[in-house]
Amino acid sequence: MKTLTIAVDGHSSCGKSTLAKAIAKELNLIYIDTGAMYRGATLLAVENNLIQGENIDNNKLMSLLDKTSMEFKNIEGENHLFMNGRNIEREIRTIEISEKVSYVSKVATVRNRLVEWQRAMGKSMNVILDGRDIGTVVFPNADIKFFVTASVEIRAKRRFDELKAKGDDVTLEVVMANIQKRDYIDQNREMSPLKQADDAIVIDNSFNTRSEQLEIAINIIKSKCPHLLH
Ligand code: DC
Repeated sequence: MKTLTIAVDGHSSCGKSTLAKAIAKELNLIYIDTGAMYRGATLLAVENNLIQGENIDNNKLMSLLDKTSMEFKNIEGENHLFMNGRNIEREIRTIEISEKVSYVSKVATVRNRLVEWQRAMGKSMNVILDGRDIGTVVFPNADIKFFVTASVEIRAKRRFDELKAKGDDVTLEVVMANIQKRDYIDQNREMSPLKQADDAIVIDNSFNTRSEQLEIAINIIKSKCPHLLH
């Protein structure tokens, strides 16, 4: 029986997916990475040459999305996004996709479609979703809403270290510029801009380790929903 929906929103590269994954593991919830879905739609657009500068061929992208399936599968304990049966987890994390995803995620029809899929996924299961508009738009009645943030310098350094560890040839400046640009576009787009829901609880993890931020969040969940945890 469905009992719980947790929304985790926040800025780019603030550690919200790390937090959401850890909470999911601890409380046995299904984790839905909505950013991965916007990245998947961006990959679809890139592979079909539908992006020119900041412009998207929206009609073609929507007709491709009509024929597209997205699902998350657990691969060796990690959540991987499959698009039309193909594992695209690696491809959607490149700096090229990070640079184009804000343009695709501004498109209203794309957002409506992905929100529809997210609501369907979260309808019958205990879920934790991370993104930008989960607590404000996708699940405004979520049981608990977190808004995660950290300073831009710390976020850029963390993402840079992650990309370097994967072997990507990037500089800290490029990563920082990308994060600042995405923050700006996410916060200022017309549809579903990134903003803190009125009833969200802020976690600024600038000076917290992963395990500290998990402990903070679990304590909040325990105090808000004591009936769920023993
Ligand atoms: O969480 P992320 O960095 O992987 O998200 C990639 C992009 O997708 C991000 O720049 C903004 C967009 N996004 C969004 O608009 N709405 C969401 N619910 C999740 C992500």
